[in-house]
Amino acid sequence: MLKYSHHIFVCINQRPPGHPKGDCSSKGSRDVFQKFQEEVEKRQLWEKVAVNGTTCLGPCNLGASVVVYPEGIWYGQVGVKDVEEIMDQHIVGGKPVERLLLSTLAAAMGG
Ligand code: FES
Repeated sequence: MLKYSHHIFVCINQRPPGHPKGDCSSKGSRDVFQKFQEEVEKRQLWEKVAVNGTTCLGPCNLGASVVVYPEGIWYGQVGVKDVEEIMDQHIVGGKPVERLLLSTLAAAMGG
């Protein structure tokens, strides 16, 4: 049986154009999802790290949203350019990327 060290969920939700909540797909999350898959493949971590696309995770205004378990670390505004850093620093190195934490982003927005 596979035993994952990390499970990465990327919101790839898509809503109709003009929807007031917006969505993560329109913020490039499908490319983020694909990049995570590529980075896992590149590091040959497919038996240790699972990557799944999900529907809405909740914080749509701060998408693209990503959550990593088992820690329950939430990231927001994740772009393709951020994926290698999350992989190297958090998934491999064990230290979450502070500047992309949902709590950091929310605090910067005054909430
Ligand atoms: S649409 Fe991605 S968090 Fe809601």
